[in-house]
Amino acid sequence: MKKYTLIGPFKQILTMAGLPLKGALSDEQLPIVENGGIIMVDEKIHAIGTYPQIQAEANGLNAENIHIKTNMVCLPGLIDAHTHICFGGSRAKDYAHRNSGKTYLEIAKAGGGIWNTVTETRKATTSSLIEGVKTRADRHLAHGVTTIEVKSGYGLSVQEELKMLRAIALANEQCQSDLIPTCLAAHMVPKDYKGGPDDYLLEISTSIFPILKKEQLAKRIDAFVEEGAFSPASIAAYFDKAKAMGFDITVHADQFSTGGSGVAVKYKAVSADHLEASSKKEIQLLAKSNVVATALPGASMGLGCNYAPARRLLDAGAALAIASDWNPGSAPMGNLLLQAAVLGAFEKLTNIEVLAGITYRAAAALNLQDRGTLKTGLLADFTAFPTNDYQEILYQQGMMPPSLVCKKGKLVVTI
Ligand code: NIG
Ligand code: FE
Repeated sequence: MKKYTLIGPFKQILTMAGLPLKGALSDEQLPIVENGGIIMVDEKIHAIGTYPQIQAEANGLNAENIHIKTNMVCLPGLIDAHTHICFGGSRAKDYAHRNSGKTYLEIAKAGGGIWNTVTETRKATTSSLIEGVKTRADRHLAHGVTTIEVKSGYGLSVQEELKMLRAIALANEQCQSDLIPTCLAAHMVPKDYKGGPDDYLLEISTSIFPILKKEQLAKRIDAFVEEGAFSPASIAAYFDKAKAMGFDITVHADQFSTGGSGVAVKYKAVSADHLEASSKKEIQLLAKSNVVATALPGASMGLGCNYAPARRLLDAGAALAIASDWNPGSAPMGNLLLQAAVLGAFEKLTNIEVLAGITYRAAAALNLQDRGTLKTGLLADFTAFPTNDYQEILYQQGMMPPSLVCKKGKLVVTI
């Protein structure tokens, strides 16, 4: 027999359902169920509606009742569509060097930057990598993030990239949140590689792609298209192969210089992430495409640079997701809600645009259809904040943690 659970009443449920994937949104469009309840069945949502109506339905189903006695506003579980939370070491030194005047690229050229984390990650055991991912994922969960994309990219050899991806897979089995793995072996050409970018990418694609399929380690391939990493020309054959094998493509694009967003559009990527350097041309290109433009305010905060042109992207008609980019180098903070709220204040985004960016538009960036909104048949992933007015959530700029988080029908955080 199916086991039904009724949870409520919530002062407001923001379902985020029925909204367009692309373009600007005004707060009047926000789908709000006032005084609402949710019936869950196993991992999924069975029904959502006003509390009296849903309570009557629950009675007929013999549902267990989780009665909420305080003010709560319920949202879909937050989705962080871009992180690098599998790593060894710390880059506190890089941060200090940057703040005393050195640029990210200068530090990288002098042996710091990504290569430093590669060295530390290669030294790390699989179990210490798993522990690190779990600790960070649990912290995210306590902040309402129920789905987290996690990239490799600090191994940069066949063996070490596989070590990272296997660690992410094992961490996923032990975490309450869902970890969505991405292969970022094309993060940079490893300094110890005897050959050029083309040789490296050929070796990686030939050796790793079939194993990713066989062991189901990742469905997504990412590359850092940037000066000092991979050029649009050098990444072409790699992405051709990934596409032909049925992987989703995502690109670290336009972070310091442009070019990556064009690659993302050409390869019909699911997302183009960063975009701090995007100009009118790239904005138009992305807006005309179905590529989700993912802003990473945490990288702007960590590097002390400008934000991605989120307002202009939305006004041009693009789909905007917002992710944390949590990594030891450019984005050490790892607080998605805080970063999204601050991006909203700087870029003049409506509440609904910010919330869309960390819910259903983030789900689209990960090509996930089973989450991101609250409606019948989707996963019962939601997070509820201790307030009676949804506007408080972003107003508090990440300093109001959720009082309840539900993952696949199970309450995983309650305070
Ligand atoms: O998304 N830009 C490239 N990759 C990461 C940074 C990784 C690192 O600095 O370790 C990013 O910002
Ligand atoms: Fe990144």
